[in-house]
Amino acid sequence: MSIQKTRHIKRHKTHITREDKEILLNQKGALIWFTGLPASGKSTIANSLEKELYKQDYLTIVMDGDNIRHGLNKDLGFSQKDRYENIRRIGEVAKLFVETGILTITAFISPYSADRDNVRFMLKNSKFIEIYLKCPLSELEKRDPKGFYKKAKDGLIKEFTGISAPYEAPLNPEIVLDTSKLSQKECVKTILHYLNSVRVLDNLQNSAT
Ligand code: ADX
Repeated sequence: MSIQKTRHIKRHKTHITREDKEILLNQKGALIWFTGLPASGKSTIANSLEKELYKQDYLTIVMDGDNIRHGLNKDLGFSQKDRYENIRRIGEVAKLFVETGILTITAFISPYSADRDNVRFMLKNSKFIEIYLKCPLSELEKRDPKGFYKKAKDGLIKEFTGISAPYEAPLNPEIVLDTSKLSQKECVKTILHYLNSVRVLDNLQNSAT
């Protein structure tokens, strides 16, 4: 869908490498990608995860749909094409953060498998951890913190994910958390455990000794 508009562009090599930056920060960059229906808990869990990582001295950033759509992606709506572009741009920005050594956490519905896989592919030299927040629609409609499910059912919001637009659940995510059964604390604990098990949280100075 997106094409390169000019051929007269060449890449520059940078002098300071990603590894130099990771050593400076004493951590490794990785992308922790939350996906799930509206109100499944993406932003809430992303922010509590960030809080825990901050306590453990990691440099992080959280990007979420509601914030990014006020700035970088304020020109985009909710058609399949715009959602593709939303996720493509987020993937490119996330890649820059990850290559700077930052633990990057994203909270977007990202309803299309191909768009998420596209980001996974973009990040091929880095860890991409897809976390699917699973939750029955009946529970989400009960939560409805912004009243959007009701509005969508009443036809006041068009193309609303879960009601009038599709959500393709990941087939092979790194982590699946059922937020109708697990508390926020339990979700964060499971994620931290996973990040430790795949050595994303390795301390570089310690691992060198
Ligand atoms: S995505 O599908 O392109 O990944 P994104 O995560 O950026 O979506 O934005 C979702 C947020 O936009 C939701 O939290 C919700 O508050 C708001 N929103 C407004 N309209 C819609 C819609 N039609 N479908 C889904 N979310 C919507």
